[in-house]
Parts: sequence; structure tokens; C-alpha cells
Amino acid sequence: MKTAPAVFAVGKEYQIMVPVSENSLFWIETGGESFYDEQNGIMRSICSTHRVKVPMEVLDKAGEYTVCEREIIDRKPYFPETKETKRTTFKFKPVPQKNARVYHIADTHNQIVAPTVAAGIFGKIDLLIMNGDIPDHSGDISNYDTIYKIADIVTGGHIPIVFSRGNHDMRGYYAELIAEHTPNYNGNTYYSFRVGNVWGLVLDCGEDKDDSHSEYGFTVSCHKFRERQTDFIKRIIENKKEEYKAKGVEHRIIVCHNPFTYVMKPPFDIEKEIYSEWAKLIKDNIKPELMLCGHIHRLAVSKIGGEFDSLGQPCTVILGSDVKENFHSGLGIVFSDPIEAEFCSSDGTVTQIDL
Ligand SMILES: [Fe+2]
Repeated sequence: MKTAPAVFAVGKEYQIMVPVSENSLFWIETGGESFYDEQNGIMRSICSTHRVKVPMEVLDKAGEYTVCEREIIDRKPYFPETKETKRTTFKFKPVPQKNARVYHIADTHNQIVAPTVAAGIFGKIDLLIMNGDIPDHSGDISNYDTIYKIADIVTGGHIPIVFSRGNHDMRGYYAELIAEHTPNYNGNTYYSFRVGNVWGLVLDCGEDKDDSHSEYGFTVSCHKFRERQTDFIKRIIENKKEEYKAKGVEHRIIVCHNPFTYVMKPPFDIEKEIYSEWAKLIKDNIKPELMLCGHIHRLAVSKIGGEFDSLGQPCTVILGSDVKENFHSGLGIVFSDPIEAEFCSSDGTVTQIDL
């Protein structure tokens, strides 16, 4: 394993993922059961990132998991040869039902030191949110390691992570393989999650300019992708009793890299109709407390009708990332009643947020 595993919360399961440097067979033992990285019964080994799906209730109850790896010597058709099984056990702490401490990182653009220093200033956390543009682009396969290196330093494999894709993640040769290296729900980068008493919806705007923009050279097709998310939001609303109205849900948040209710200057002023519909559906039905965003590299709070409200914000929007050379700021949140939040910077500055 190149790093500690990252335990991503997706739907009602954890996707335990880790990049590896050698071809290996991979599985997780927890709660008296084994969960394998397999496809249709075949254990995967020709992959640089392993993924094992574990039901949340199993890992939450067990409080620890053991990563099992068996390096391939020769995967010949008959009597394949592998090395001895290596086992490493990690303690795991689910998000508590009250006062969860959450740190939000976005727009690290391949930086690791400054973002993790800023996270350390907020202190002990129960959940990490990685909200897009963590690698600078997907033109180099090694850029995906940035995600796992930050996750390792901040979580050590001991607490859950929510992952949301950014627009820079869609660029370069390996962008089309991002689903192999990051968490997703049946291949989709938009999904809901539930951790402790917090329910969340991850949305993905895709790129930030029209599909026809010359910067993309015909390599993106985001309009239909956004339309599918409109249908997805409607399905979430239809299924509200299993989602944001489920028993025990006390906090609701939206996680989206791009603050889609803010209309920027051309050529970034796209999809006003779709984004207005998303905002209205969310505002009228889900009624979240916060929408967490990055993308524009600023620390700001926009209440309904505020500076960044162009299309009808469903709730307060926090722009929770700033990035400069060797400098990063993120957002710490405590899901107390009422919610408390502060911006934390790698130079030690902490700014309380008036919500
Ligand atoms: Fe971005």
C-alpha cells in the first residue's frame, strides 16, 4: 500500500480504497466477515487502486478493519503463485451522533503540506470532506496519489471521508479513468451519504464552461450529465424517507465543488436554467442548512440573497477554500446546535464564521 486506506462514505456503504505499487489481491476483514475486491467473482490484481465495499453498519459496529494483501508472483491460468498474506489492522471511529467535527478541503491542486497543516490547526475531526480539484489535473496518473496522501495524513484510515469531484479532475489522459481511482455510486460522481446525524448530497457540476469551449477540445460532454443529476435530485426527493427524512437525521448539507447558484462572468455563466432548477428543488424540499463549495479560491459566506446568490440559493453557501503557493485555507465545522464554523489557514490564522 502506498498510503493508509481512505474510508469513503457513499450511500449506505464505505468504499475502502488504497493505491498500491505492486499487483496484489486485496480484501478487508471486519466484524467477522470478509469483503473482497472482486468483479463477478474474480479477484482484481491488475489495478493501481483497490476498492472494497463494506456496509456502514458492519464497520461502525466493529470499530476496526484488517486490510489483507497478497502480492502476485505469477497469475498464470493454473496454480497461480502469490506471496504470503500481509495483514494490517486499522482502528475506525464512525461519525458520532452529536457534535461531529468536520474539516472541508478543496482546491489543493496537488499541494499536500499546506492543506494538511491547515487541517491540523482545526484539530481533531470525525469526518473529512474533500471537495474537488485535489489533484491539479488528471493528465498524470500519479496525481491521484495526492488524494490518498492527504487522506492518510488527515485521517490515517481511522475516520470516514466524503469525496466530491472538481472540474480540474476532468482534464487530461486519465480523467476518463477517475471512477477507478475515486469513490462513486455505480460509476456516478453524484450521490447521497449519511454519517452520524448528518445527511448530505454530493452534486457535480462537471466543467465550468460550455462543452464547446476550445479549452476542452471536444473532450467533455457535461450538459447531459447535469440533466441526469436533475433526475437524480428528483429521485432523492421521492425517496426522502430513506434519505434526508430518515430517522436520526438532524443536519442536512449539500457538497458541490462549484457554487452553482453564483453566476460568474462569461465564459463561466453557463447552465442557469439547470442550476436554478437544482436550487429550487433543494430549497423547496431538502431544506439544507449549508452548501459547502470551493472552486473560486476564496473564503466567503453567502447567506440567502447575499453576494454570491444569483440563482436563488437554497441555504447559506460557504466558499471554504483558498490556495496560494505554499499556503492553503480550509473550513472547519462543528455540527452542534447551532452549527459552528471557522476558516483555518496554514499560516495559523483562524477566523470564526458568523452563521
Ligand atoms: Fe475548480
